[in-house]
Amino acid sequence: MGNMLGLCHVSKSFGGLVAVDNVSFTIEEGEIVGLLGPNGSGKTTVLNMISGSFRPTSGEIWYKATNISRMRAHDIVQVGIARTFQLVRVLGAFTCAQNVAAALAFHPGGAFGRAAVERIERLLDTVGLVLKADALASDLTYIDLKRLELARALALDPSVLLLDEWLAGLSGTELDDGIALIRSLRTQGLTILLVEHVMRAIRALCDRCIVLSSAVKIAEGATGDVLSDPRVVTSYLGSHDA
Ligand SMILES: Nc1ncnc2c1ncn2[C@@H]1O[C@H](COP(=O)(O)OP(=O)(O)O)[C@@H](O)[C@H]1O
Ligand SMILES: [Mg+2]
Repeated sequence: MGNMLGLCHVSKSFGGLVAVDNVSFTIEEGEIVGLLGPNGSGKTTVLNMISGSFRPTSGEIWYKATNISRMRAHDIVQVGIARTFQLVRVLGAFTCAQNVAAALAFHPGGAFGRAAVERIERLLDTVGLVLKADALASDLTYIDLKRLELARALALDPSVLLLDEWLAGLSGTELDDGIALIRSLRTQGLTILLVEHVMRAIRALCDRCIVLSSAVKIAEGATGDVLSDPRVVTSYLGSHDA
């Protein structure tokens, strides 16, 4: 065990708007941590800073012993952090296998030839898409699109995975399948930071939760404790996401 990821007094402003205000937390190896909060509270901005889409206005972000605060997104992928997006991003005109191949090509340790074919098959198998390897991404159902986006993130061979509302829009058995899939990733050694609103998923998956409200961290701790914290309950009131 050890710290995989650490935010130290991180803030982000867009012009006059403070989207993330002096947020600190750490994530240990092998944890699944939930990042919660009402719409607009700064969750995606936190993921954007960790993954290098935005630089923090102030504060530091550490991956193990490396200060990644000022690294570019491309380099942050190389150190071992991958993400999915709140709005799914895949290549619609390509097959599932081609989508994963394109992601693999981004990784310098990535495979070629026969090894690549096997790796693509294993990744599609991990996310439950192996039978749809040759289906066009544009023909996939919503859950399968999400599976494909996850396979693309896993192709980057990350140690830390950032999921931005990956389970949103799923219900019933699809949600159960999604929860089981994320749990299986932890078993494979991944450390996961999960932005999520779906309470059933949060309770089923997260060891700990961190809660943002209006850019500020208002709670952090074991999932059960955090979800019954009166400040957290209040911050979700009036929010249809809760
Ligand atoms: N690129 C951006 N430019 C300007 N404002 C932004 C940008 N990204 C996010 N914001 C603002 O920052 C705040 C937090 O947004 P976000 O991190 O997306 O919240 P959440 O993911 O918790 O819903 C919002 O007020 C949002 O409008
Ligand atoms: Mg968001």
